[in-house]
Amino acid sequence: MPLGHDVKNRLGRVGSNALDRLFQLAKRVPGVRERIAAEYDKMLEEIRRSARPFAHDVVKRTRLDDHGIAHDEVAAEMAELSRPEHERWRDGFVSGAVYHGSADHVAFMNRIYAMFSQTNPLHADLWPSVVKYEAEIVAMTADLLGAAHVTDGGPVCGVVSSGGTESIMLAMKTYRDWARSERGITRPNIVVPSTAHVAFDKAAQAFGLELVRVPVGTDFRADVGATRHALNRNTVCLVGSAPAFPHGCIDPIAELAELAAKRRIGFHTDACLGGFVLPFARDLGAEVPAFDFRVPGVTSVSADTRKYGYAAKGTSVVLYRSPALRRHQYFTATDWPGGLYLSPTFAGSRPGALSAGCWAAMVSIGRDGYRDATRRILDTAAQVKAGIQGIQGLRVLGDPLWVIAFASDELDIYRVLEGMGERRWNLNGLHRPAAVHLCVTLRHTQPGVAERFLSDLREVVARVRATPDDRGRMAPIYGVAGTLPVRSAVGDLMRAYLDVLYEAD
Ligand SMILES: Cc1ncc(COP(=O)(O)O)c(C=O)c1O
Repeated sequence: MPLGHDVKNRLGRVGSNALDRLFQLAKRVPGVRERIAAEYDKMLEEIRRSARPFAHDVVKRTRLDDHGIAHDEVAAEMAELSRPEHERWRDGFVSGAVYHGSADHVAFMNRIYAMFSQTNPLHADLWPSVVKYEAEIVAMTADLLGAAHVTDGGPVCGVVSSGGTESIMLAMKTYRDWARSERGITRPNIVVPSTAHVAFDKAAQAFGLELVRVPVGTDFRADVGATRHALNRNTVCLVGSAPAFPHGCIDPIAELAELAAKRRIGFHTDACLGGFVLPFARDLGAEVPAFDFRVPGVTSVSADTRKYGYAAKGTSVVLYRSPALRRHQYFTATDWPGGLYLSPTFAGSRPGALSAGCWAAMVSIGRDGYRDATRRILDTAAQVKAGIQGIQGLRVLGDPLWVIAFASDELDIYRVLEGMGERRWNLNGLHRPAAVHLCVTLRHTQPGVAERFLSDLREVVARVRATPDDRGRMAPIYGVAGTLPVRSAVGDLMRAYLDVLYEAD
């Protein structure tokens, strides 16, 4: 990585927009352009190596074979390639990513998938069983998230989507269309805390919404006063997270939703992470502020069944306070030569097997199962949090329940991240501020995992402290990417990285 901390610090003193413009201009200058390209190539080589650990050991297939290959042979080839990938998540080295993962549960999910692999809820008439599962997933999730407490409007309703990002995008599109038709707002904006998931940026880009990000307070929770000032008459929706992805902190939803209610605009709680944890944490006596439909101003909630709902990846739920609001989400076409067309979400055809599996996960686990899983996760997270707090040089950010972010005022935290990676840990690097988090899942509740995490962390921190001149291999990339004001340079690199992922030969 060519840009060291000294350069980064110098860059930090210049306005970021000016630097971005300068960078765009510099990219056009012959000589400079080639140098930038050469530097990117060097970085991409490093990235390419980590993205393709098997690059030299496998048959590359970039053209259909003339003749098909026997099922057993295909399956064997695929099993061989994925073999080294299982252990890391199974043994609890990974932050988030696999939330349940016990052999029994995985086998059950696979069994249900196999039963429904040909289904598609777009064809409701062909597969009414899948339609029932989706309706009941929505109903069970709504019940969990306070639907029974809604006395104004209601009944709470929703749809099954493909994941947290789609649930959020659907809700934001819904508010845009609601505001246009009910309020005549044609230049809508949404106001979100700086920690809200990047899916809100994606929604803003896709639907022509202005995104106003409000910096969170020192406790990493939304700043209610600053949010009040950010609202204007084009604001169609206000957002809070329960909890937010980076630091696992729960925004003051009741206060934020009150601001929204006073202006009669939408309020979305992003409970993608917390929807299937917080209700049970509350049952277990944890201090859980109101975040769902119990709060009067909350008009929509996203909750990911694919995370702590323990369904396979590919499902999430977005809920609305009333069917009238949900109507703005739907797509219908009446004059297409292909016939009458209607779909509730962005996708057309959808994998009914995932919804069937999601329903099966929810029904088979039940309240007791979710409560027990939550208890194990919260206990393990408390152990991890206390352990991190006991390591000199590290500090936990905010007051999280199970997504534990930590930073350092003395050490390069990205070298700690890298050192943990060398010990097989796959943690999340955060920036603004530079930090690392572990999102605790059931995988970490296995015997010995929390202890192993803490002892590895202690050793890595000691090594980073003992070798202050070692800059690491990838740590500077994280560091620069996190704070470099030339955002377009980082963006260029990220797009090039996506290209790398699709390189087949
Ligand atoms: C709080 C929060 N919202 C939204 C999302 C997006 O979910 P997905 O990756 O399923 O699109 C995530 C993912 O981690 C999340 O943590």
